[in-house]
Amino acid sequence: MKQEQVNELLYQALETELGGVQIYTTALKCAVNDDLKEEWEKYREETQTHVEIMQETIEAFGLNPDTETPGRGVVRHIGESLVKAMEMALQAGEPAAAQLVAAECVTLAETKDHLNWELIGEVAKKTKGEAGKALKEAHEEVEQQEDEHLYHTTGWTRELWIESLGMPAVLPPPEEVKEVETAIGAARAKSARGDML
Ligand SMILES: [Fe+2]
Repeated sequence: MKQEQVNELLYQALETELGGVQIYTTALKCAVNDDLKEEWEKYREETQTHVEIMQETIEAFGLNPDTETPGRGVVRHIGESLVKAMEMALQAGEPAAAQLVAAECVTLAETKDHLNWELIGEVAKKTKGEAGKALKEAHEEVEQQEDEHLYHTTGWTRELWIESLGMPAVLPPPEEVKEVETAIGAARAKSARGDML
């Protein structure tokens, strides 16, 4: 493995989680639906824990969690941009529209987060010693939550959009009702949505 790029992945993963906390804090200002608010409150708390887990993991690699890299700067920029996008929507003063923007922003952020943890899982398999142990433990603790964050929010985004179009929507979305935790499960839940209306 290319250790320098492994380190880069770890720094980007930490930065993604840091941005995630800010994104959920702003998304919660946009949320109107009570079930969605409850869901995002939980995800924000979990994301805060992920920040701590990533800081500890980076230290287990003998690295400094505050190290800057150009790639990390890009991740921060995207996170700040998503926060700005939600603030724009809030200022426009249409709550339902702002909620939609927030759902899209969370989905975008969680797509990167999910990718990071998928890659961390791959790296964990190939990393030996204390660092490998730390990585495996972190992955075990976090991965299922990341699946939920991405698949459930994707479902919320789709159903809120469908509702906004004036069509019957499944709220909370099938992904949440069926407690989806895999890509296959998400595809199944989505294809069954017609029966849940
Ligand atoms: Fe996360």
